[in-house]
Amino acid sequence: MKQYRISGRSAAALVADIESAVLAGELAPGERLPSVRRLAAEVGLSPVTVAAALSELRRRGVVLSEPRRGTRIGEGPPIGSLRAPLPVPEGARDLSRGNPDPQLLPDLTSVLAREPSRRRLYGEAPLDPGLAELARERLCADGVPAAAICVVGGALDGIERVLQAHLRPGDRVAVENPGYAALFDLLRALGLVLEPVAVDDRGMLPEQLARALQGGARAAILTPRGQNPTGAALDARRATELAAVLGEHPGVLVLEDDHLGPIAGGELHSLVAGREAWAATRSVAKALGPDLRLAVLAGDARTVARVQGRQQCGPGWVSHILQGAVRELWSDPAVDLGIERACAVYAERRHTLLRALRRRGVTAHGASGLNIWVPVPDEAGAVGGLLQRGWVVAPGTPYRLSGSAPAIRVTIATLGEQEAEVLAADLAEVLAPTAWARSG
Ligand SMILES: Cc1ncc(COP(=O)(O)O)c(C=O)c1O
Repeated sequence: MKQYRISGRSAAALVADIESAVLAGELAPGERLPSVRRLAAEVGLSPVTVAAALSELRRRGVVLSEPRRGTRIGEGPPIGSLRAPLPVPEGARDLSRGNPDPQLLPDLTSVLAREPSRRRLYGEAPLDPGLAELARERLCADGVPAAAICVVGGALDGIERVLQAHLRPGDRVAVENPGYAALFDLLRALGLVLEPVAVDDRGMLPEQLARALQGGARAAILTPRGQNPTGAALDARRATELAAVLGEHPGVLVLEDDHLGPIAGGELHSLVAGREAWAATRSVAKALGPDLRLAVLAGDARTVARVQGRQQCGPGWVSHILQGAVRELWSDPAVDLGIERACAVYAERRHTLLRALRRRGVTAHGASGLNIWVPVPDEAGAVGGLLQRGWVVAPGTPYRLSGSAPAIRVTIATLGEQEAEVLAADLAEVLAPTAWARSG
């Protein structure tokens, strides 16, 4: 493919040109840019001007620069629509998107029909009192202190608001590695610097978190269960160890992203109690449906007040239609039973695939949640090999920061038992073609 020719007579013009090229698809995610020196020569500007333009694009997450690897367009630059989902050829099975099983979500028609009982106008209290009460009960039962809460437009919206309430561009944030690609995009778009902390099946490694905090990270974002992409879940011991590390840094902002809530499987081990600055999100996206776009955010009083105050200057509140729908769903014992059942079904689907892979000598991770994470020697080869056999899975690259090894992510949410056997056989074949050819 012909390389896009960047042009511009000033730093601002270069920024605008590169942004337009990203928007038009002429510069694709991951595409390398020429070195500062070469670009300067190509456009006829000084290296200082070109470096200033790249620095502005870096601060907004449009480009990424890495030592010895130069500068490239980010994987999810915040220009136009981000990260197009992988194309799914006709007849292929899509296991790439991290979605819940629609069959396991509650039916919204009756709650939505019941909800807008009166027309709400400007000037109402932002928080539905019934929803607030239920949220407090649920969070407190899981060990999250919920004296101060507010409602936001999903877990990531809450995380963005909390980060903006506390941090500035250039601040360092400790994140799980591998971790959630959209969270990485968000942090980059906010001009924050990612500080990778390796995870195993029980969450962040305490010694690596300690190193990141000693290195000056001002915040840490942790997923207590159903970690995306690895499925890691904190157990009591790891939670105690991590709390001790965080205890050495009382001023660090701690964000706990319980994006799956009760659907994750496994108890919540929360790390936030007693901290100065913290927030914990509880999204309804996976248990009740992603399009509800609602999460409850608990936090220390100051953090919640800042988030609420800022939210009121912008969208004002999260629609009472949505808040009422979640209140009704959370009040319905049949919905709770459905969530319990869904949680058991997801666990069974996860274990079935993990077992099928283990029988074929393939190691994979998936302690909780909707995905499993399979280390592979070559991501493109594994994704391509599976695609030829009719499976669409996610390459690990967007989820990986430096230091984590190649892998693929497979969403198990809708994967039946027989399908799991076929997928495991196909994956084993893709990973060890010669051995499998020999054994038939
Ligand atoms: C770790 C993590 N956090 C947050 C989200 C998004 O949650 P929400 O839709 O509530 O913003 C996801 C979605 O998969 C996720 O994996």
